[in-house]
Amino acid sequence: MNNIKIIGVAGGGTMGSGIAQILAQHGFKIIVTDIAEKYLENTKRIILLNQKTLISEGLLTEKQAHEELKNISFTTDKSVFRDADIIIEAIIEKLDIKQDYWKEVEEIAREDCIFATNTSGLSINDVCSKLTNKKRFIGMHWWNPPHIIPLIELIKSTETTEETVQLLTELVEKIGKKSVVVLKDVNGFIGNRIQFAVYREALKIVEEGIATVEDVDKAMKFGPGFRYPVLGPFETSDLGGLDTFYYISAYLFDELSDAKQPTKLQQELIDNNNLGVKTGKGWYDYSDGKGEAAMERRDKNFYKMLKHIHNN
Ligand SMILES: NC(=O)c1ccc[n+]([C@@H]2O[C@H](COP(=O)([O-])OP(=O)(O)OC[C@H]3O[C@@H](n4cnc5c(N)ncnc54)[C@H](O)[C@@H]3O)[C@@H](O)[C@H]2O)c1
Repeated sequence: MNNIKIIGVAGGGTMGSGIAQILAQHGFKIIVTDIAEKYLENTKRIILLNQKTLISEGLLTEKQAHEELKNISFTTDKSVFRDADIIIEAIIEKLDIKQDYWKEVEEIAREDCIFATNTSGLSINDVCSKLTNKKRFIGMHWWNPPHIIPLIELIKSTETTEETVQLLTELVEKIGKKSVVVLKDVNGFIGNRIQFAVYREALKIVEEGIATVEDVDKAMKFGPGFRYPVLGPFETSDLGGLDTFYYISAYLFDELSDAKQPTKLQQELIDNNNLGVKTGKGWYDYSDGKGEAAMERRDKNFYKMLKHIHNN
């Protein structure tokens, strides 16, 4: 880990900009590449905006922000990756583009450079299928916004070595985040499998008229959601009693949603262009500035949680 000095970030969009920022904050030299200058301008804009909020929340000083920026360089020329110790790819989520991209990078990068893809859900085996050396390739799934959310999932392909996993585990620890290792190359990794199991059940509860959208959100935030930052599902069941959880599973599992496709209600919302904050309406109404207010509320609460983590 001590030999890791230069990290390449491919794609400076929503994820790449935050990834570059948090790594630079911890002293790594970062090279961000993208396909055109205009996208790199966007990367700089996002980083400055994130820094401004972090400063106003007291989570970053002006001096740290300045140092952080000095550690990041921006270019459209990916041949700079020849100097990188690790390359993290956060380009468009299209399998063929990622496969060709990594093939090109393999011709540029050093033999000992580690390759990590931030794919949301593509198979890690598929993403690296065109590479000659797959041992140094790994999935590194950051959560949005990457400079705030602590979790990073490390996903093994069938060929990823333990050394590769170990190195990235140490990197994650060094930047103050939390890693988990996904031992099999499966869709949704850990976090999204659980998140979507919850979403699928929430949809069923609403679609069957068991409760309103508002009450499902409220139940989650003040019940299970209140527990989750402190206890995972296994810790919860240990404390609750495994026999009790077993008896509940025996009558409840059969009733839970096992929908194999997105539901009718989801389809209706999509068909009516009710896509949430971005179109002004989803499950809730976000017209007349209510969307911006919802995002501000979310960010304020995220920052409160981040401060709590910093202080503990
Ligand atoms: N947005 C999320 O919530 C989220 C969360 C976790 C993982 N991801 C994954 O991260 C990756 C990036 O997502 P995003 O939301 O940042 O996308 P984005 O569209 O905001 O950014 C992608 C960037 O990659 C650039 N790009 C595209 N092709 C390129 C190429 N060949 N070479 C270099 N740069 C290229 C684009 O110009 C753009 O700036 C995707 O694989 C996505 O699935 C996204």
